[in-house]
Amino acid sequence: MNIEILSLSELKMFAKKIATNLKGGETIALIGNLGAGKTTFTKLLLKASGVRKNITSPTFVIMLPYKTKHWTFYHIDLYRIGSYKEVQALGIPDNWNRRSNVFVIEWADLIKKHLPKNTIFLEFKVSESSDSTTARTITIKNASKVFQKNISR
Ligand SMILES: Nc1ncnc2c1ncn2[C@@H]1O[C@H](COP(=O)(O)OP(=O)(O)OP(=O)(O)O)[C@@H](O)[C@H]1O
Ligand SMILES: [Mg+2]
Repeated sequence: MNIEILSLSELKMFAKKIATNLKGGETIALIGNLGAGKTTFTKLLLKASGVRKNITSPTFVIMLPYKTKHWTFYHIDLYRIGSYKEVQALGIPDNWNRRSNVFVIEWADLIKKHLPKNTIFLEFKVSESSDSTTARTITIKNASKVFQKNISR
């Protein structure tokens, strides 16, 4: 499913819808080129989920946790990761699918074959059909029918 977004305020609305439809235990894989909007989306998702702490990019530390009322978000950036072993060393795979965690992973395509089966993929692309620098096409893959329906209305 493709979602066309024209501005940062539309991205904010999209992030809010995703936040509202999480149940805990999800892994969200963010795919897209440098500057496509993965970190920007994550910040909006965390804010919409009630995180008040300052949200920074985990590019250098790889993983940053954010507690909410219902679960802990783990914001992960694999851009600087060399191998899946490094991901294992962080203990990430031991905690997939637990209701008390939600993983949001930038550059998740680097460990695609190791991701849990129910991973929701969000692919960010700068829209080619628009002159606007803030237009993005977000392709959602592997989400349940109910999830897709809820976020498309
Ligand atoms: N609709 C939009 N969605 C997302 N970002 C947008 C949008 N419009 C403009 N931007 C801008 O594009 C930039 C996206 O940068 P961001 O760091 O989120 O990308 P990224 O995909 O995380 O890149 P990297 O791979 O370097 O981590 C930000 O400066 C943001 O303000
Ligand atoms: Mg980023």
